[in-house]
Amino acid sequence: MKVAVANLKGGTGKTLTSFFLATALSRRGRTLLVDCDPQGSALSWAESADEGGEGLTFPVIGLAVRDVHRRLRAFERDYEHVVLDTPPGELAIARSALKAADVAVVAVPPTKIDLDRVIPTLELVADVEDETGLTFRVLLTRVKRISREGRDTREVMEEMGLPVMGVEIPFLALYSDAFGAPIEDLGEYERFARELLGEPVGREVPA
Ligand SMILES: Nc1ncnc2c1ncn2[C@@H]1O[C@H](COP(=O)(O)OP(=O)(O)OP(=O)(O)O)[C@@H](O)[C@H]1O
Ligand SMILES: [Mg+2]
Repeated sequence: MKVAVANLKGGTGKTLTSFFLATALSRRGRTLLVDCDPQGSALSWAESADEGGEGLTFPVIGLAVRDVHRRLRAFERDYEHVVLDTPPGELAIARSALKAADVAVVAVPPTKIDLDRVIPTLELVADVEDETGLTFRVLLTRVKRISREGRDTREVMEEMGLPVMGVEIPFLALYSDAFGAPIEDLGEYERFARELLGEPVGREVPA
């Protein structure tokens, strides 16, 4: 499976989702994580994790270019799964990463501003869908269980006909503290990976 994690808006949980997803997929088959963001956050995470000595269960490479979909061909046949972390605000690179993927996961925190700003990303995804047969899912990230926003945003998006995934990622230190080290506890990202792969999802992990 080749998955691009996208949202043209910054700070929506793309890199976190990419890293957790790559970890989950690497437990199932050979997995490559491609950092398409010139900011290189996934690469920095990998660098710091490898310095810690334990090392990662998948390689991370940087391909922050507008022809990711062409360059990836040289690597992808060695992997069962490829995850592409995409940049905010770099339309050409994001488009190319989406063209390299068979599934797009649009990571969206459930706030009004994020809902408002997701439209250009959905348009981009629809464009690539027409071109390559890409499919897409919406993943709610940074969901604060204490507030209604998660439920409200899901409702609005479902009314818009968007394919919102059943699994959502809570706003927890488990996730924000993970940066810079190999991931052991996948939290809700294990169930997210299962839903994406069409496996039985099972019960929610208690917070
Ligand atoms: N589920 C979560 N719970 C708590 N914090 C989270 C969660 N998801 C993301 N964050 C935090 O939100 C911030 C943005 O996350 P991340 O870097 O993954 O977003 P991004 O979309 O990749 O950002 P950019 O657009 O800048 O690349 C980070 O500080 C991260 O730790
Ligand atoms: Mg990022």
